[in-house]
Amino acid sequence: MSVRVVVGAQWGDEAKGKIVDLFAQQSQYVVRYAGGSNAGHTVCTNGKTYKFHLIPSGILHPDTLAVIGDGVVMDLRSFQTETEVLRQQGVSLQNLRIGLGVHLTMPYHRQLDELAEAKIEGRIGTTKRGIGPTYADKADRIGLRVADLLDRQRFETRLRRVLERRNPVLQRVYEAPAIDADALTEEFALYAEQIRPYATDVPHLLMSSLERGEPILLEGAQGTLLDLDYGTYPYVTSSHPVSAGACLGTGIAPNRITEIWGVAKAYTTRVGEGPFPTELNDETGDRIRNRGREYGTTTGRARRVGWLDLVALRYSARLNGFTALAITLLDVLSGFPTLKVCTAYRYCGETTVRFVSDGYALDECEPLYTELPGWQEEITDCRQLEALPVNAQAYLRFIEQYVGVPIRLISVGPNREQTIWV
Ligand code: GDP
Ligand code: IMO
Ligand code: MG
Repeated sequence: MSVRVVVGAQWGDEAKGKIVDLFAQQSQYVVRYAGGSNAGHTVCTNGKTYKFHLIPSGILHPDTLAVIGDGVVMDLRSFQTETEVLRQQGVSLQNLRIGLGVHLTMPYHRQLDELAEAKIEGRIGTTKRGIGPTYADKADRIGLRVADLLDRQRFETRLRRVLERRNPVLQRVYEAPAIDADALTEEFALYAEQIRPYATDVPHLLMSSLERGEPILLEGAQGTLLDLDYGTYPYVTSSHPVSAGACLGTGIAPNRITEIWGVAKAYTTRVGEGPFPTELNDETGDRIRNRGREYGTTTGRARRVGWLDLVALRYSARLNGFTALAITLLDVLSGFPTLKVCTAYRYCGETTVRFVSDGYALDECEPLYTELPGWQEEITDCRQLEALPVNAQAYLRFIEQYVGVPIRLISVGPNREQTIWV
């Protein structure tokens, strides 16, 4: 029996989708545990590229159930679009399951997110997918869940109650029109019938599966440094991408987890606002961005890029309890004479190897680098560790030693087969 968690170790987009797809074949269930359609997970296989926002990256495997856990928030309009695209690509949704406790990202959540972001001061640089307002309503206990959706009367009553509180904000704070409860009730009655066949008591489903000893894979979204509590607050998302979030978002108890995989790029990227000590605003940064095609899967925004921050990665490893690391996009670093990795910060006149998670304090940290020799060869065809240039091997060893977690997988290209198992 194995319960494996795949966690983003940085600020998201670490290629979790690729890693989840690799493990999915050996898993009875692939369960998304946090976030919503702010996520964009890419899987490239057999010459096709699939982009997932809400649907777990395990859906491509016919014998695997793809489950949306209760920690996820779901925008049913964007779900329509996503499923339509996937159906056109020939993907069957027969194996999809959706938690009854999943909160719905409603049109007013998206609108409130967009309106808040439009006020330039204090911008987070969100994906404008309504994530913050949805989780806020969840915490405020006025959120609507899949279970509500399936009961029209209950849905309508609860919707009217929320709108009594949200409409005045839309009208008075943002001077936007009020939301019409009748129109929304009709629209969501249609979604209810589409969702009904998939709706499931997920904790019960997974507990039964654990009793049968079946392998389960828990798919993280976003990244550790975007965690609401342990990320670079306030420049974070509103959910818990960390491994502990996998338990909360699925109902699986912590002592059932057997492996925690941290996925980290061989460098660092970040989308949106917020501190980024190793950021490169120069030609080197442009070169990494171009080689890594660092443009957002969800929003198309150019990602900010920088050198690998080992101070942050070690923090992430300890916070999540990583038992293994997957280092991705290593191929992007070919062709540099030297590579820098951040091994300490200069903060308040002192040198520290402790990560500073406070969003404002991290902005004050200056990165201190160790320089490592680069390699010139393209490595996208390498399939074994020994086939990598010696300097690439040394780069990986340096990461492993600093972080204190074994690297068990190296990704050298977007495709399934461009993978080195260690
Ligand atoms: P996720 O959100 O963590 O699933 O990552 P994204 O899908 O947003 O971004 C990762 C991007 O890198 C995708 O376009 C992948 O196809 C691509 N990718 C994944 N692994 C590799 C790799 O090893 N090398 C290169 N060059 N690209 C990769
Ligand atoms: P995946 O799963 C990268 C970032 C946004 C913004 C902050 C808050 O593909 O790795 P939100 O819309 O969540 O309120 O935005 O979080 N962000 C991501 N960055 N990858 C993601 O998901 C992200 N999801 C949210 O850019 O800085
Ligand atoms: Mg992504």
